[in-house]
Amino acid sequence: MGKKLENFVAAEFLREYWQKKPTVIRQGISNFVSPISADELAGLSLEEEVESRLIIEHGDAPWTLRHGPFDEEVFSTLPESHWTMLVQSVEHWVPEVNALLEYFQFLPRWRLEDIMISYAVDGGNVGPHYDNFDVFLIQAEGKRRWQVGPVYDESAPVVADTPLHILSEFSAEAEYVMEPGDILYLPPGFGHHGVAEGGCMTISIGFRAPSHREILMGFTDYVSDQLGESLRYSDPDQRVLSNTGLIDEHSIQRVQDVLKQYINDKALVAQWFGAFMTEPKHQQEQADGITDWSFILEEFEGADLMVSEGSRLAFYKGNCYYAFVDGEKYDLPLDTLEWVEVLCKKGTLLAAEWSRIEDQKTQQWLLGLIQKGVLYFD
Ligand code: SIN
Ligand code: CO
Repeated sequence: MGKKLENFVAAEFLREYWQKKPTVIRQGISNFVSPISADELAGLSLEEEVESRLIIEHGDAPWTLRHGPFDEEVFSTLPESHWTMLVQSVEHWVPEVNALLEYFQFLPRWRLEDIMISYAVDGGNVGPHYDNFDVFLIQAEGKRRWQVGPVYDESAPVVADTPLHILSEFSAEAEYVMEPGDILYLPPGFGHHGVAEGGCMTISIGFRAPSHREILMGFTDYVSDQLGESLRYSDPDQRVLSNTGLIDEHSIQRVQDVLKQYINDKALVAQWFGAFMTEPKHQQEQADGITDWSFILEEFEGADLMVSEGSRLAFYKGNCYYAFVDGEKYDLPLDTLEWVEVLCKKGTLLAAEWSRIEDQKTQQWLLGLIQKGVLYFD
């Protein structure tokens, strides 16, 4: 733990660039060696549970998009140049890729969406486009020429007859050739166009930001599931009206007061938000046969307890305290907080740490997470 990007000052980056403007971090990771090979990435794209795509330019159509899982034979049918294979959530499948997240500890971990990795042959690109989320693009192998443009939105014209959202009127304002270890940061909306110069692998660390629509719908769904039918709009202060059709300011105020009652409840908002932001991209596989704490003490003596790759942990500590794991809220006694903090910060509980936990509620909670496959013994 504790790896840091080079040629980079986190506080300065957050102040000047994060969510504000693009920047290049030259040799952010010096002597960078890709944590995955092109062959391993291709192997992942054959797997049923893995989300993968192939984007081919100048094939049978100007742009072709194919979704995985692919057959191994597909690679022998591809042209010499101008194609890209993209694999999502690689952090879930490859621990060495998950370990890259250590470099990004200057941002909340629950803001992360996933790590996508692309492999492209010469000329390979996915067309000029913008994304709705922040992304750090780490050049992993070979070279890619990036053009970065201004901010675009839904009103920008796109290329017709393709499901890919390719900007038809992209204008570059800056150009960079990226080599292994260089990192391009892009805030949401900035147009970008990256073309491989020879074989090229790029790692995209993408972030999660719920839309206002998701926030409103998600929170109101969460709250309304808990409310009985007897809670209703009420107007005991109603006065005589001059027009029975009028919805007056008082009536609107009463509705706003109902809404505010829930929105102003920080604990309620935290309950929903924590669960929502820790929703995993993939469920973990259950661990069978781990029955109770004494079994663990015997069987796993000396082993460190690790957070599974792809699991998402967070906690909220205001007037109340909640832990969140893979989309679930846990109401735990306050003395668990010290362990939750270690798990969130370090992603592991050392053998010397977990084996001295005596509180039964904490043991039960950890046991549950081990059974769910969220935690595992190294
Ligand atoms: C790529 O890796 O080819 C594309 C990544 C991106 O533009 O978001
Ligand atoms: Co992009």
